[in-house]
Amino acid sequence: MSGFSDEAAWWQSAVIYEIALISFQDSNGDGKGDLTGLMSRIDYLKWLGVDAVWLTPIYKSPFRDLGYDISDYCSIDPTFGSLDEFDHVLKALHAADIRLILDLVPNHTANDHAWFIESSSSRNSAKADWYIWADPAENGGPPNNWRSRFGGTGWEWCEARRQYYYHSFLVEQPDLNWRNPQVRAAIADVMRFWLDRGVDGFRVDASAVLIKDQLLRDNPPNPQAKDKPPPQRQTPVFTDDRPETMDCIEFIREVIDSYPGRVLCGEVQGKIDRIGHFYGNDRPRLHLPLNFALLDSQWDALSLQATIDAYLNAIPEHAWPVWVVGGHDKQRIASKIGKAQMRVLAMLLMTLPGTPFFFMGDEIGRKRVPIPSDRVHDPFEKLVPGFGLCRDPERAPMRWDGSAGGGFTNGDPWLPLEPGGTPNVAEQQRSERSVLALFRALIMLRHEHACLSQGGYEPLRSHNDVLAYRRTKGGAQILVALNVATEPRKWHWLGRGRLLMSTHLDRRSETLPEASILLRGNEGVIIALEAR
Ligand code: NOJ
Repeated sequence: MSGFSDEAAWWQSAVIYEIALISFQDSNGDGKGDLTGLMSRIDYLKWLGVDAVWLTPIYKSPFRDLGYDISDYCSIDPTFGSLDEFDHVLKALHAADIRLILDLVPNHTANDHAWFIESSSSRNSAKADWYIWADPAENGGPPNNWRSRFGGTGWEWCEARRQYYYHSFLVEQPDLNWRNPQVRAAIADVMRFWLDRGVDGFRVDASAVLIKDQLLRDNPPNPQAKDKPPPQRQTPVFTDDRPETMDCIEFIREVIDSYPGRVLCGEVQGKIDRIGHFYGNDRPRLHLPLNFALLDSQWDALSLQATIDAYLNAIPEHAWPVWVVGGHDKQRIASKIGKAQMRVLAMLLMTLPGTPFFFMGDEIGRKRVPIPSDRVHDPFEKLVPGFGLCRDPERAPMRWDGSAGGGFTNGDPWLPLEPGGTPNVAEQQRSERSVLALFRALIMLRHEHACLSQGGYEPLRSHNDVLAYRRTKGGAQILVALNVATEPRKWHWLGRGRLLMSTHLDRRSETLPEASILLRGNEGVIIALEAR
């Protein structure tokens, strides 16, 4: 991959931090995070060094699905505050040089949204075609076999229209009809409402499912269905990733492009071989289709090397890569790879080519928080129990300190925090070598070296448990070597090197006497090659 042009856009060299506002910082003791709470943590974000924040939905919502069920796209849910408070937060973030990305949920609304109330009232209403309506099958049942991702049939009967409507997710989240130009125009207005206020971009929710097959063809069974949760027992060829969807994404991109300097990120089809598609060709689509491949990779040097290679090969030549290592839907990676390798992951994330994303709490090496069954909120777990699908363990409130409310709230937190009080931000801010200190140091290093944020990437042959690569820009060359084993491993290179950083944060800026290093167990290093 060649280096990027000098006129790189801000989001190419940015480090992006996802915040679920409800779990970030409570300011009024109701156990839920809010905008005033976020305001009070801008200093932390600045200290950490992130360049942009992506907020999960903050709009008016009954909150059945973490706010991804929206009742009004152009207002702030009272739990979080007001539009005025939003404007203050945006101004304060910008003053701190931090950009703000909002979640855009164009696929579905909540069923108490005025559009749906009108659409479901009668077949003759002005918004009759704003959602996906269909007549019953001959036997009076649902029109076809499409399933909801949250379990059961995807169709719900509406007596007033004597028709079914389709919902990809909850019954209370009816899907909008993206074939209707009025729907497109209405979502464009929503985007402009926020872009005019100054937001720096959107993360498009469920962008791969915006259009469903017009003939309503049944989905075939999934040949690998055995042991899968029921919603995955079909292959969703007629509901997901339809070719017509791309035109919708192109339309959304045109709206974004009418405002300079904004970014469009998006949740896309999970398979690596489809990601490239979401960048677009003649007509651009997403700037940053989110790539979760590192989360799915086996954690050994050869598998990681292959995962990185497969992804970089799957995206088009001009495409800017993206790496996401945590999110509100994803199991915490620290639970999978352990505390020691979390440091290696941090170094990997901040030195790969492309834009890094991580989720609040990843920077303290947070693991999944145990959630007792009587405290479960996630509808996914309630509707499809027994498959370990619950997302609450990742969504637990931020642990700022070791107190009962974690420094997050003085009240009862909406989800429990980890019982032991650790890991937490305060404790790790006091330690020079904590995971948090490492994330911060890596972000700083990435900002200092354009070679890391914008340079070219060359894989080196990984072996002996060491994943290695080179980043280059102009005359600068940086080597990264990551020991994914718990035992020491020797690693060699060619040339004279200066150690820029070790994941252990105990060695820095030393000229190395030889072109080899004994990496300690779980150690990663960044080495600058000195010009000969
Ligand atoms: C994708 C979001 O990331 C997820 O949290 C949500 O449940 C679904 N969209 C449905 O809205």
